[in-house]
Amino acid sequence: MRIIDRFSREHDAFVVQLDGLRADVARGGDVRAAIEGMRVLAEPLLKHAANEEALLFPDLVLKLGGETGGPVGVLREEHVIIHGQVDHLSAEPTRAAFDQVFTAFDKILREHIAKEEEVVFPLSAQLLGDERLSEMNEEIPAAV
Ligand SMILES: [Fe+2]
Repeated sequence: MRIIDRFSREHDAFVVQLDGLRADVARGGDVRAAIEGMRVLAEPLLKHAANEEALLFPDLVLKLGGETGGPVGVLREEHVIIHGQVDHLSAEPTRAAFDQVFTAFDKILREHIAKEEEVVFPLSAQLLGDERLSEMNEEIPAAV
């Protein structure tokens, strides 16, 4: 399996969890269930982003250039924003604070995943090849 196939599987799981959290936010009520759901999502999500940065992004930078800025730089910046939102949502926010930050988090994470699926992974397959992407997959345990 190529590392981008593993990452895609993980993306699918995150979207299912996001759908659940979004439904929870829409229902309102006690914020503790939403915070718990967020804590369940947090660890595999941050591990996934760390694996992308450690394994996939360096090879992409070699091909595309742009340690900062450029497509990989944008993805890294989005990871930083998402990480900050995860920290906030996993702490003890009020219902109103949770809902406000979650709305932004839900949007950016879905857009970020779509960008990786539609642009970054096809580009990675083209630039790096199946063999290299399969080697990368051997280097990490599953995040989800
Ligand atoms: Fe990702």
